[in-house]
Amino acid sequence: MAFTIAIDGPAAAGKGTVSRAVADHFGFAHLDTGLLYRATGRRTLDGTDPVEAARTLQASDLEAEDLRTPEVAQAASRVAALPDVREALLDFQRAFARRAGGAVLDGRDIGTVICPDAEVKLFITATDDIRAERRWKELREKGHADSLEDVLRDLRTRDERDSARAAAPLKPAEDAVLLDTSQMSIDEAVSAAISLIEDRLNR
Ligand code: DC
Repeated sequence: MAFTIAIDGPAAAGKGTVSRAVADHFGFAHLDTGLLYRATGRRTLDGTDPVEAARTLQASDLEAEDLRTPEVAQAASRVAALPDVREALLDFQRAFARRAGGAVLDGRDIGTVICPDAEVKLFITATDDIRAERRWKELREKGHADSLEDVLRDLRTRDERDSARAAAPLKPAEDAVLLDTSQMSIDEAVSAAISLIEDRLNR
């Protein structure tokens, strides 16, 4: 039976970590849909047309080493505003969501556009400052030299672009449960998400 959990929210709110842990807990497959936009955005950095890049995306593009850089994140957010890019990535995401055995998808428009009928929808947030600090620490561990101010400015630029675009903007689905992880550790955020999902399943 297909069972879909949709997890959306702004950059660095903890969606990735929570989604992976939720998928492990329930034995579901996980798709980080941001990777599709990052891989597309990355291909545009050498001049490839964004729509062409999205239409010809290969599984191996999702394994590129440098998808997590701030430069690729901004490129991802820019190509994500193009309706034809989103359209090119739609079928793959919907097919993933319907796979037997259950799926967790995380992104910006999973509950609103990709899987409006998902059995459970979460919208994960945290304050700008906390998200920036978490992302800054992650980047620093990987050897990036960006300052906390740079990271905060980058996140805000991305969130504004992702929220203001006409095509599938970042916003909670009407039936999404909100989870603010600002005051939570990773373990607390994961436990909170699992209990919210279990509550929904048992209703
Ligand atoms: O989740 P992320 O930070 O890896 O996503 C990178 C960018 O991709 C994000 O700024 C907006 C875009 N994106 C999107 O528009 N829709 C999604 N479902 C996932 C990501």
